[in-house]
Amino acid sequence: MTEHGELPADVEALATGLDRAGYLADESLATALFLAVRMGQPILLEGEPGVGKTEAAKALATVLSTVLVRLQCYEGLTAAEALYEWNYPRQLLGIRLAEARGEQLTDDDLFGPGYLLRRPLLAAIEHPGPRPAVLLIDEIDRADDEFEAFLFELLAESTVTIPELGTRRAVVPPVAVLTSNRTRDLHDALRRRCLYHWIGYPGSERVADIIRRREPAASTPLAAAVAGSVARLRALDLTKPPGVAEAIGWACALTTLGIARLTPEAAGRTLSAVLKHQEDQDAALRAGLSTVVGTDE
Ligand SMILES: Nc1ncnc2c1ncn2[C@@H]1O[C@H](COP(=O)(O)OP(=O)(O)OP(=O)(O)O)[C@@H](O)[C@H]1O
Ligand SMILES: [Mg+2]
Repeated sequence: MTEHGELPADVEALATGLDRAGYLADESLATALFLAVRMGQPILLEGEPGVGKTEAAKALATVLSTVLVRLQCYEGLTAAEALYEWNYPRQLLGIRLAEARGEQLTDDDLFGPGYLLRRPLLAAIEHPGPRPAVLLIDEIDRADDEFEAFLFELLAESTVTIPELGTRRAVVPPVAVLTSNRTRDLHDALRRRCLYHWIGYPGSERVADIIRRREPAASTPLAAAVAGSVARLRALDLTKPPGVAEAIGWACALTTLGIARLTPEAAGRTLSAVLKHQEDQDAALRAGLSTVVGTDE
């Protein structure tokens, strides 16, 4: 493991650290994250919903014992909202106070650092170190094209320009982790700037391990049964195939009800924890719950 304050020495050290932070990464993901940290290059994590993209960035921040700065992207997100805003109420108060004292404030006073609200991108750029912040730019595919264009400049230069204050250069450039569910294609220019890793849905054994990690109340056989059943559900033609998050949720529902064995009846009682669409539940029932839980094999 890493000494406090040091970057992980190798891929194995990073994987062990992630494991301790409760995140199970396979070797290819651990390698990709290690390279992102060591090469100081942004990394783009793509994958289906719920495969652990967001959690990977959080766990990475834990391993590096540094802050996680998260920017949640959405349609219409503007560069200004992501970078900084001026604290208008505080500026107004400043003006009132100055008037009461018979003083006059200049623009330089009002647009100074004291009135600046740092939004995630600026907070990450201005993070004082000594370790780099982890900057999670979550669900970049939800933001608009223009925002993406703005972003790749920022990522390339690790600088931002605030008209009233000038250019700010990162003291310690952040480790940038971008995630996407591929609801739309990202610009080639952005991809080229990033390392890339596709997080696939893990095999059943790993899913069972993840369940055990996240839901310790679930026994090893129960976790294995849930992982196997989720794999069988994923083989059906569903609108929304359950992911790792749903597998964990299912195990949690079962343990909460005090159910130790995943029988067809138990699956029926808890189906809504794993299938979130009526038509998917119907498809599972049509396939037969004993088939889903594997008791008729
Ligand atoms: N490899 C893993 N190790 C430990 N926990 C995991 C792993 N993969 C997923 N999880 C757990 O699964 C859940 C979903 O993960 P997360 O939110 O990171 O998915 P995501 O890929 O960001 O999904 P979305 O695209 O919906 O945002 C979390 O509770 C997370 O802890
Ligand atoms: Mg996510």
